[in-house]
Amino acid sequence: MQNLYIKTYGCQMNEYDSERMADVLAVSHGLHLVDDPVLADVLLLNTCSIREKAADKVFTQLGFWRSFKERRPELVIGVGGCVASQEGERLRRRAPYVDLVFGPQTLHRLPDLLDACLAERRPQVDVAFPMLEKFDHLPQRPGRDGATAFVTIQEGCDKFCTFCVVPHTRGREYSRPMPDILRETRTLVDQGVREITLLGQNVNAYRGATGLVGEGGLADLLARLARIPGLLRLRYTTSHPSNLDDELIAAHANIEILAPHLHLPVQSGSDRILRRMHRKHTVEQYLDKIERLRVARPGIQISSDFIVGFPGETDADFAATMELIDAVRFDQSFSFKYSQRPNTPALKLKDSVPEAVKDARLAVLQGRINGLAQGYAQALVGTRQAVLMTGPSRRDPQQLTGKTACNRSVNMAGSMDWVGQMLDVEITAALPNSLRGRVVHAAPASQRLAV
Ligand code: 5AD
Ligand code: SF4
Repeated sequence: MQNLYIKTYGCQMNEYDSERMADVLAVSHGLHLVDDPVLADVLLLNTCSIREKAADKVFTQLGFWRSFKERRPELVIGVGGCVASQEGERLRRRAPYVDLVFGPQTLHRLPDLLDACLAERRPQVDVAFPMLEKFDHLPQRPGRDGATAFVTIQEGCDKFCTFCVVPHTRGREYSRPMPDILRETRTLVDQGVREITLLGQNVNAYRGATGLVGEGGLADLLARLARIPGLLRLRYTTSHPSNLDDELIAAHANIEILAPHLHLPVQSGSDRILRRMHRKHTVEQYLDKIERLRVARPGIQISSDFIVGFPGETDADFAATMELIDAVRFDQSFSFKYSQRPNTPALKLKDSVPEAVKDARLAVLQGRINGLAQGYAQALVGTRQAVLMTGPSRRDPQQLTGKTACNRSVNMAGSMDWVGQMLDVEITAALPNSLRGRVVHAAPASQRLAV
């Protein structure tokens, strides 16, 4: 066995987990990550079950891989992530050619599962929730060559929004101790990483052991991370409005390297629907927090997730969501049609909004958000932005790509030697999905420019 291929669906937390699966199998079995599944001896699918469509994709993909295995029976196929966690043994009943089933909290056990599968010549399933174990059993992160990286600091969710499968697939809230996070981040920065995105399903509910006495919240962790020399930019995602406290709002004023951009999902602009969703916040409370954030960090960009067609959503509820969008003027956001998820409380509510109405509402909402986002992009034209150079452009490898503070890609002419530097860039054009720019100073720039 030599080669490993991993296909990842879903969120950034899954991307982080996939990296860690590769790390753990490189150490235990010397497996080398390849980007062509045909070359692989072990195929892993890291799955997502947040919405119906995401879960459906899993069995289509496994169907493809089944044909590989018919040709090479020694091939090992593993399924991890939230669908694995949700389905457990059932997944093997539907796809009996799968050899390994493991959940987000058992990926560190992959080497043992693989050994057992090879020795006993039978499939292995382990989708337990041994929260405290995972991070203690992962190897140090090996060398990498990117300017940006994810660090998971918190997992799971105790909020139990009625539509959401996460508390059932990732388990209850757990925060990693601060010293572990600081160590992992320092290692990444030593390897050339300049921007870190802290990840958690409920990242701002973070409360981790400080290593000394007691625990600290996200604001405390951010302040400690910001002192790491060489780290130029910090982000965190995804947040819950009810955990955005005064301390965290103050962090946006005080911590210069904290990007002036926050993803703060609201889901709906109707209090009636928010109550049915069990969101634990009202529209007014949400607006109040946004206002205070904007005082703390003028120009901060806000993005959100929205669900349209939640059970019982009327035209008036949807109109309230559109009103909220106009009041906040969100930047690039994510929006979805409600879909029923296994084990969630909303299953008891009738999925009452017809599909055609959901489609129409989604189109209206996305049209408005895209218009706002395009407006923000257009407003950047002619300004100078601090851009972190991340590598060659995907479309044209002769061009350099970077990221603005508000998380937009900028393509420009430049030297690949600049990768990892934060440079002053004049934005020259706003295209639908990216910006074009011109490097003004090929020397490190201040991060705190107007957005
Ligand atoms: N249906 C539609 N969208 C959902 N999301 C979560 N669960 C569902 C569901 N059952 C969306 C929410 C969440 C994002 C990650 O996915 O907007 O914030
Ligand atoms: Fe799901 Fe709500 Fe928890 Fe977010 S806060 S992960 S939407 S239950």
